[in-house]
Amino acid sequence: MDTFDLIKTRRSIRKFTDKPVPDEVIDRIIESGVWAPSGMNNQPWKFAVIQDRELKKEVSALTHYAKIVTGADVLIAVFLDNALSYDRTKDCQAVGACIENMLLYIHSIGLGAVWLGEILKNKDRLLTLVSGSTDLELMAVIALGYPAEPGGNVTRKGPDHTVIFRK
Ligand SMILES: Cc1cc2nc3c(=O)[nH]c(=O)nc-3n(C[C@H](O)[C@H](O)[C@H](O)COP(=O)(O)O)c2cc1C
Repeated sequence: MDTFDLIKTRRSIRKFTDKPVPDEVIDRIIESGVWAPSGMNNQPWKFAVIQDRELKKEVSALTHYAKIVTGADVLIAVFLDNALSYDRTKDCQAVGACIENMLLYIHSIGLGAVWLGEILKNKDRLLTLVSGSTDLELMAVIALGYPAEPGGNVTRKGPDHTVIFRK
């Protein structure tokens, strides 16, 4: 698929089959994330991979989107490592680019995923489930697996509403 079509056809997937995602595929997804650009190439991201059923249940208690969390084969929690941070705005942008890389790669190989942000209200509680570090700050949880249903029919605003200057 051409890159434009890949970007345009990616949709948030919130229901997954039970089919397990192989470990080497998870590794490649993370590798796609770390090839995102970052300011001064500081690569300020860290990841926690959660596949254990009981642990996913504990994570689900931290979000309104509990069903998505328990229904996903894999959760990838994405952290900003504040020990590596040099400029908070730029580091958050880099982590966002990293997450989008992963979402696009996931879509390109026929898997599905959703970026979960609502869970950030409990970011400290999630961190304690996977790490004792105080440097890490949760940026998002990606829930992924093999899609059980297509994404929604969403639209985007056109250039009339987004391009504010052209000369
Ligand atoms: C920062 C951010 C936070 C999000 N948080 C959630 C969330 O907590 N739960 C959820 O179901 N979707 C969440 N989403 C997914 C958006 O709802 C979704 O991307 C948007 O509705 C557009 O749909 P699409 O991804 O299918 O194009 C989030 C997306 C972003 C970028």
